[in-house]
Amino acid sequence: MTLTTDSPAARQRELLDLAGSVLAGGGLGLFQLPDEVNLVIAEGRGSHVTAVDGKDYIDYHLGSGPALLGHAHPEVVAAVQAQLPKGSTYYFLNEPAIRLAQRLVEAIPCADVVHFTGSGTEATFFALRIARAYTGRQKVLKFEGGWHGMHDYALWGTVPSRPSPYPNANPDSAGIPEALRGQVLVAPFNDAERAEAIIEAHGADLAAVIVEPLERVLVPQPGFLEAIREATRRHGIVLIFDEVVTGFRVAWGGAQERYGVIPDMATYGKAMSGGFPMAAIAGRREVMAPLDSRVRDRAHLAWASGTLNGNPISATAGLAALDVLSRPGAYDVFHHIGGRLRREIKALGARHGFAVQTPGEDAVFGVRFTEKEDLHTWEDLLTHDRQLGLRWGIELLKRGILNNPNEKFYLSIAHTDADVDRTLDACDDAFKALKM
Ligand SMILES: Cc1ncc(COP(=O)(O)O)c(C=O)c1O
Repeated sequence: MTLTTDSPAARQRELLDLAGSVLAGGGLGLFQLPDEVNLVIAEGRGSHVTAVDGKDYIDYHLGSGPALLGHAHPEVVAAVQAQLPKGSTYYFLNEPAIRLAQRLVEAIPCADVVHFTGSGTEATFFALRIARAYTGRQKVLKFEGGWHGMHDYALWGTVPSRPSPYPNANPDSAGIPEALRGQVLVAPFNDAERAEAIIEAHGADLAAVIVEPLERVLVPQPGFLEAIREATRRHGIVLIFDEVVTGFRVAWGGAQERYGVIPDMATYGKAMSGGFPMAAIAGRREVMAPLDSRVRDRAHLAWASGTLNGNPISATAGLAALDVLSRPGAYDVFHHIGGRLRREIKALGARHGFAVQTPGEDAVFGVRFTEKEDLHTWEDLLTHDRQLGLRWGIELLKRGILNNPNEKFYLSIAHTDADVDRTLDACDDAFKALKM
């Protein structure tokens, strides 16, 4: 189908129709907006994106998190432009990848060494394999509601509509092998007692415990991560923090720095490569040894190769982004802007008669319609009114606020007080619209 019109609105309509016919599912993944607010993005700059129909949005989705510096940050663009004419991929060692590895090792508390992968999904998938190779054990444990990407070990108890029969859980996706049932155990997040009991009971079989230290929008309660750290250490289990979201976002040293608990391994993605595709596994040298063909024979190596691992363009973007984030005061904006949004959205909701909570961290938080003030567990989150959340998110989209309803608001260093003012006006109108 060729596009036949120059009218921006009609062009967008044509592109959406084309997407509907040539993309499986009509979109790029699970995420699908209702037709009335669906859009095709033409460009992004700073905290804003523009759709093909010409409409401007303040972006609180940021590519699902990677654009922590905002879109097209000038220093990232300049660095990538300088690298591009030198070629886009080599497979062999290259300086940007080595320098980025050095930067990650310096920044990430648990990292003696890192291994690059292409995506966060690959990072958690390989991290679990490395842990199995390291321990010689088979099973892994994750937490209910924890999101670790799309592989077969990750999609158990991720978005259950009722609490899982711990330590068992059901697969989230069709096509997950039944053979994995019982290989992936699930424990309730933020329930140290029950999680510890499961680890005690299955410790001898567990290769890894993987946890999102900030589980979507649930902040770890004091003592929870510490208890998991202690129990995994006791049983020789590899503790993996999935920092794909939290890395370089909730603090320069990620959740490990923010919450003061150091795992054996961590997975990184999203913000670490300046909005370009790349991810990494970081960890203690000993635990990462199964990757090392210098010290392991082939039969005992954990394979984690990938054509684009250590891609020089992504690594260059990552280096530029981390340079910006490493400057003094870089994280202050999140507390100012994110803190303001969290407080004022909740207050606006109350003014309109809606019980609204804004759980999470200032750099990444959720908006949930629920009376429950203390949201700690997945079960707590199930109290929220999804339908109302969806309607509110759609009203915001109509008013030029780009968001993924019922998910997260991501902040960038490019967001300004003027953005917040406009956002709060839109929130006010959206709450009003819910009452009509
Ligand atoms: C915590 C966490 N881990 C892993 C992933 C998977 O990363 P990717 O989408 O790059 O495969 C995501 C994706 O949103 C995530 O939020």
